[in-house]
Amino acid sequence: MEKIEWEDVQRIVLSGFKHLPYSAYVLCRFRPEERAQKKKWLADLAKRLTPVLPDPERKTHCAINLALTASGLQHLGIGEPALNSFSMEFLEGMAPPHAPGAPIPRRTNILGDLEASSPEFWDWGGWDEKANHVDVLLLLFVADETSLDQLIESEMDAIHGVADGDPIVLKGHLFPDTKEHFGYVDGLSQPKIEGRPKKKNKAPEKGTSGIRPGSEVKPGEFLLGYLNERRARITTRHGRDIRRNGTYLVFRQLEQDVPAFNAFLSDVAKNLGETEDWVAARLLGRWRDGVPLVPERAVANVGCSKNDFLYYYEDRAGLTCPIGAHIRRANPRDSLIPDPVTALHLSKMHRIIRRGRPYGQRWKPNDQERLGEKAERGMLFIALNADIAGQFELIQHSWLNNPRFNGLYAGTDLISHFSGGESITIQSRPANLHIPRPAPFVRVRGGAYFFLPGIRALHDIAAS
Ligand code: HEM
Repeated sequence: MEKIEWEDVQRIVLSGFKHLPYSAYVLCRFRPEERAQKKKWLADLAKRLTPVLPDPERKTHCAINLALTASGLQHLGIGEPALNSFSMEFLEGMAPPHAPGAPIPRRTNILGDLEASSPEFWDWGGWDEKANHVDVLLLLFVADETSLDQLIESEMDAIHGVADGDPIVLKGHLFPDTKEHFGYVDGLSQPKIEGRPKKKNKAPEKGTSGIRPGSEVKPGEFLLGYLNERRARITTRHGRDIRRNGTYLVFRQLEQDVPAFNAFLSDVAKNLGETEDWVAARLLGRWRDGVPLVPERAVANVGCSKNDFLYYYEDRAGLTCPIGAHIRRANPRDSLIPDPVTALHLSKMHRIIRRGRPYGQRWKPNDQERLGEKAERGMLFIALNADIAGQFELIQHSWLNNPRFNGLYAGTDLISHFSGGESITIQSRPANLHIPRPAPFVRVRGGAYFFLPGIRALHDIAAS
């Protein structure tokens, strides 16, 4: 097993900071000039960043991590040869520029960022270069609201001299019940990096082997410089390669239309003669309390972990967990091709570490907001991966947004944000149920591709 330099890796790779439920994401654009000042800011900040080691289990009272876009790296003096070693999609960005009248950029089509979710309308990161461009993402995590405001203030003071205009501050938080805005428990299934520091004295969950099937993944799927599931290594040079111990960070602000989603659940439940919870579970693949549909609840209650399941032998036809359910599309585990062992290995090449958090207050039935209005709540979606095209983009494009996913012939995912999937299929006997689907429940409000460097690389960049 490869030895990983965890002391150099930013801690968000291994931790969702559940003990620090208040968070802020500071998005800023660098001033064009004053490189020396930017490097000074970086040198100071690099000392405050939170790494995995020395003590991965110590509950720090705050955590700070940093990610940069391609232009952010350029501002800090990264020249062409080093910059060109980064992946094409990172260099191109999530929303490549679009000239009026020209066809929609390929990447925008891949992501399905169309209609109301088009980068034309984004609040940040979109096509309006001047207003929307982002170089820096600071990720701040603390235990309470007052500490969050204090930390934001001190980091804003520090960045003030190098920022062009006012940074955008997005606040996210983990609700105590860990449910996101559509009412589902979130943050349950994550890939486990092989070679991660093991928690002391942690007994395996009751009824499990301690290692979830298919959840141990080679470090190179998430950290540059290590072997991945294809036995390849994304960085070739050791030592001063600035990509080593870093990973790509995908950040998307996904607005959620909760009243529209609830109205849909209620209509479908009435038509099918089922409960809203039953319908909600078929859309996600888990009950709202997190219990998976496979294995069925009766079995799951007999000491089975919320993640210790596969699909091939239990539910190949999707009669228990629909084939188009969110978690089955986003991680098909062993079900994508007829040979379950190879299928499971293939799925491991397309995993992401999710670190997103909800933003905005919970929707309440007496809120004034009407269907289709701009909602003030949603998901600050974050995915970490070593290969944006092969991991995040593949999941979004070929699995979530794909009406032909795994033998289906219509429909897209619960969270797809364009009107391509007019229906949702629930496998059933004697005949499948086809449910007409209204306008999307999710809308993209902003986004960018970042790189989350190793801490040594940041010191090197600051010193060079
Ligand atoms: C508003 C947007 C979204 C919401 C509300 C949402 C919600 C959820 C929930 C409730 C779960 C189940 C809990 C868990 O397994 O941790 C889940 C799982 C997952 N989601 Fe999402 N999600 C969203 C967007 C996305 C996007 C954009 C992607 C990827 C492109 C994605 C990928 C995944 C993956 C990989 C899993 C784990 C599946 C598994 O391993 O079983 N999600 N999501």
